[in-house]
Amino acid sequence: MKDKSLISIDDYSKADIINTLDRAEDFERNPHQPLLEGKVIASLFFEPSTRTRLSFESAISRLGGKVIGFASKDSSSVQKGESLKDTIKTVNNYCDLIIMRHPLEGSARYASEVADVPVINAGDGANQHPTQTLLDLYSIRQTQGKLDDLNLFLVGDLKYGRTVHSLLMAMSNFNTTYHFVSPPELRVPEEYKMFLKEKKLKFHEHTDFTDIISDADIIYMTRIQRERFSDPMEYEKTKNSYVLRNSMLEGTKDNLRILHPLPRVNEIHDDVDENKKAYYFPQALNGVYTRMAIMSSILGL
Ligand code: CP
Repeated sequence: MKDKSLISIDDYSKADIINTLDRAEDFERNPHQPLLEGKVIASLFFEPSTRTRLSFESAISRLGGKVIGFASKDSSSVQKGESLKDTIKTVNNYCDLIIMRHPLEGSARYASEVADVPVINAGDGANQHPTQTLLDLYSIRQTQGKLDDLNLFLVGDLKYGRTVHSLLMAMSNFNTTYHFVSPPELRVPEEYKMFLKEKKLKFHEHTDFTDIISDADIIYMTRIQRERFSDPMEYEKTKNSYVLRNSMLEGTKDNLRILHPLPRVNEIHDDVDENKKAYYFPQALNGVYTRMAIMSSILGL
């Protein structure tokens, strides 16, 4: 993984994924390792973020590195018309590694092609969010004790949700059975279903999951991605499709855990938060350990 950009989760083999999770576990046990001393990391966020940006920045600080960058395109020279290429070619001179979130699908791959330093994709439009996936896998392994042979329910916006796309690809390494729960308009794109068919993995599509929730090991709730809709009426039609409530968790498996990449809008009711099966806040903490592991591996440390 040294010097290698992380753009899509399929840039990592199953062995790379396991190595990263093992390394993250080591950082969770012993977070005070000054491995990034003397390193400068650029954090370029052209789209809003709370967890991804701040957990990366927390991970860099805890490892003794320095962060430069911007949290919004409005505070960069993109606002004056500078191209992505020129921004990357410039920032590239100031750092050892670039972390980038951008609204355009494919922008992270493009940045990695023009940069001389490795690039980490922190989300490119509706395409991929590979570091989120690694922390999701870490969370699944921590709560289930394994990654193999699980019933994974993916619920909500499966069309535009980049975390869903990355996670379903990564879990294909582990004999997962998938249950896709979405409104008809927001189904998983065909290319991902083709990918699973080629791997001979089982997937089922549903518009409701109340009758089958007792089969779930992991329920991965997602927000309807308002910012990706070209037609606001479509968003209005689908925005309240699913609300997970505490009462729905009666009779579910003991090992069931509820994950969500966050932010949530209304798809998980607050009354779920106190249930021991709710794991979305510890999941967000796991982002720090996982991102420590990703950055130190890429920098060969
Ligand atoms: N999960 C996630 O990507 O959250 P942010 O948009 O807050 O970074």
